[in-house]
Amino acid sequence: MLAPSANNAQRCEFVIVNDPDTLRRIGEIGNSGPLCTAPAMIVLVVDHQRETKGSEYYLEDYACATTQMLLAATALGYAGGWIDGMFRDPAKRTPVCELLGIPDDRLMIVIVPVGLPAEDGPRRAKKPFAQRASWNRYAVER
Ligand SMILES: Cc1cc2nc3c(=O)[nH]c(=O)nc-3n(C[C@H](O)[C@H](O)[C@H](O)COP(=O)(O)O)c2cc1C
Repeated sequence: MLAPSANNAQRCEFVIVNDPDTLRRIGEIGNSGPLCTAPAMIVLVVDHQRETKGSEYYLEDYACATTQMLLAATALGYAGGWIDGMFRDPAKRTPVCELLGIPDDRLMIVIVPVGLPAEDGPRRAKKPFAQRASWNRYAVER
């Protein structure tokens, strides 16, 4: 909730889910990995129609808030996930919105499952520094 937001509009809202029946139902709808096992989830909702200074910033705001939730969870010793691809499909998003009572003028955009990691998985590979960054002038290897 302390994440930056464009013009401090605070477009992101959070439904914190720890009720076992609700978690189970989200797991049935999502039917994948952490959505089926996490003991808690944070469902991020945006006020996507709220423009400030004539610009739309909800994507930036939601990404910023999600990143900060993941960093905070990690700092506290938890594991978190960024699950939003499936919720672009109304067939998945609508039942979650109905279950949680999310109003029609809000967009449910991502669920962050949070829990203690069952095991240390491998880190995903990242490209080498030179293929991503350079000093002083653009010289990224392409
Ligand atoms: C905008 C965005 C959407 C994402 N959506 C999903 C998703 O729907 N499901 C998922 O498992 N991971 C999702 N991720 C996580 C990425 O898959 C993950 O960050 C990437 O594979 C790199 O792994 P790492 O973060 O562990 O380094 C998303 C990440 C971002 C930034």
